[in-house]
Amino acid sequence: MTVNQVNEVEGKVAIVTGAASGIGKATVELLRARGAKVIAEDVDPDVRSLKADGIVPLVADISRDGSAEEAVALALEHFGKLDLLVNNAARIVYKPVVEMTRHDWDYVMETNVTGAFLHSREAAKVMIKQKSGYRVLCLLLRLSDNRRLHVVQRRVGTVDPDVGAGACRAWHPRQCDRLG
Ligand SMILES: NC(=O)c1ccc[n+]([C@@H]2O[C@H](COP(=O)([O-])OP(=O)(O)OC[C@H]3O[C@@H](n4cnc5c(N)ncnc54)[C@H](O)[C@@H]3O)[C@@H](O)[C@H]2O)c1
Repeated sequence: MTVNQVNEVEGKVAIVTGAASGIGKATVELLRARGAKVIAEDVDPDVRSLKADGIVPLVADISRDGSAEEAVALALEHFGKLDLLVNNAARIVYKPVVEMTRHDWDYVMETNVTGAFLHSREAAKVMIKQKSGYRVLCLLLRLSDNRRLHVVQRRVGTVDPDVGAGACRAWHPRQCDRLG
């Protein structure tokens, strides 16, 4: 990562979903280390352990009506603006696609698609109003056993290998959507 990229998040305010573990947790830590403020959202109450100066945890299911509004409201209440949304939370059903049930499909889609949509919509409302929107990042949406089928695959964003979880190494920034 270059010096310019490091400075890119300094002073910015972010929401990171799926922040309690893995890449989401590493992203929260990386953003904070580089001078950003973060709303760290996860359905797992362990996300509370991230509470620190500049990090506000939110225990919420991102697919639930109202959770996106709550996350955005927290960003404005604590930090006065919103610059960045990292749609990271995801569920995976480890089955071959031919064995996936309708319930499995809905379980995955609720978080990976509906939750990401609701958060993107609410974040965009604020970013457009601010006229200083920054970025909405969508990490990989993996819908079924990856040996069988990737229905939707998107790799976006960057996680520093020094801070990031071992699982995340090479992320490509080319699909970032710039708003405003
Ligand atoms: N680990 C990998 O090898 C890998 C590779 C490519 C992409 N990805 C993608 O990166 C992202 C993170 O992967 P990870 O391995 O860190 O996953 P993870 O399972 O460690 O973390 C996902 C987090 O999302 C949270 N979450 C799930 N459903 C939620 C909901 N409805 N509301 C709020 N929080 C919810 C979980 O509690 C968990 O803390 C995912 O989008 C995943 O598809 C991961």
